[in-house]
Amino acid sequence: MARHPILLDCDPGQDDAVAILLALAAEDALETIALTTVAGNVPLDRTTDNALRLVELAGAEVPVHAGADRPLLRPLVTAEQVHGPTGIDGADLPPTGRRPAPGHAACALVDAIRSRPPASVTLVATGPLTNLALAFRLAPDLPGRLRRVAIMGGAIGLGNVTPAAEFNFHVDPHAARIVFESGADIVLFPLDVTHQVRVTEERLARIRAVGNPAARAVAGMLAFYRGRNPEGGPPQAPLHDPCPVAWLLEPQLFRGRRAEVTIETDSPLGLGRSYVDFRSADPNALVMEQADAEGLFALLCARLARL
Ligand code: RIB
Ligand code: CA
Repeated sequence: MARHPILLDCDPGQDDAVAILLALAAEDALETIALTTVAGNVPLDRTTDNALRLVELAGAEVPVHAGADRPLLRPLVTAEQVHGPTGIDGADLPPTGRRPAPGHAACALVDAIRSRPPASVTLVATGPLTNLALAFRLAPDLPGRLRRVAIMGGAIGLGNVTPAAEFNFHVDPHAARIVFESGADIVLFPLDVTHQVRVTEERLARIRAVGNPAARAVAGMLAFYRGRNPEGGPPQAPLHDPCPVAWLLEPQLFRGRRAEVTIETDSPLGLGRSYVDFRSADPNALVMEQADAEGLFALLCARLARL
């Protein structure tokens, strides 16, 4: 079976780290062309170093291109209170001798997508969408050349940074607006579906039992991350970012409907809000609403065991 070429733009972050390892563990099904990093959960130097350490942990040869160190217009907001000062606290990964590949992430996205056949590459985004917006402005042909854009971000209901906005879209609402107005074929994984994928103690134990270095790193990261539990309630933190990668591998794990998604960039209170209209006659995204969490964790454990 032909491998599905993907690019993964991310801001690791423990949940991004799990998405990265899931993708790299699925090299029989996914060809990860490159990782691109953006400032978000932690500053760019940290997200980039984290991505390099994770590629090393996976034993992969995948270039990492550093991208935007701040949003298009807004000041950078980070989330060390959730992810810890390194962004992947709990992983305990050693420093790596690997260095970022030359070239800004936005240029790397343009070059990689233009170098492949039209409608072949899926762009996965699990952080603020700044690099995607820059790439789409650099190369207006890009949205039409992509197979699709699979995004973790936004919310049908309440946000997780403000009542209105989810973190990735809150950090860079203008970039999110550019991406959703680009005409790209978008699949969106909002908080309403990622909150169904909870890191319970039992699931954490299953990951720990896989027993290899990658699984131990994931268990350490998720133990740290679930303990911070930014949204309150029992320590069962939602595992946001592996969702789009899991969908690429096993689409039956998710259910959704097409909707028109628009991003708030004017209202100070609502900045970054994703308005999701399932009744629109002009939908621009497939918005996921249901997840099979047990199936996702089974996929994750099976794939981690291959690293
Ligand atoms: O709101 C959750 C999203 O923001 C996740 O991608 C998390 O890693 C942070 O980037
Ligand atoms: Ca992220």
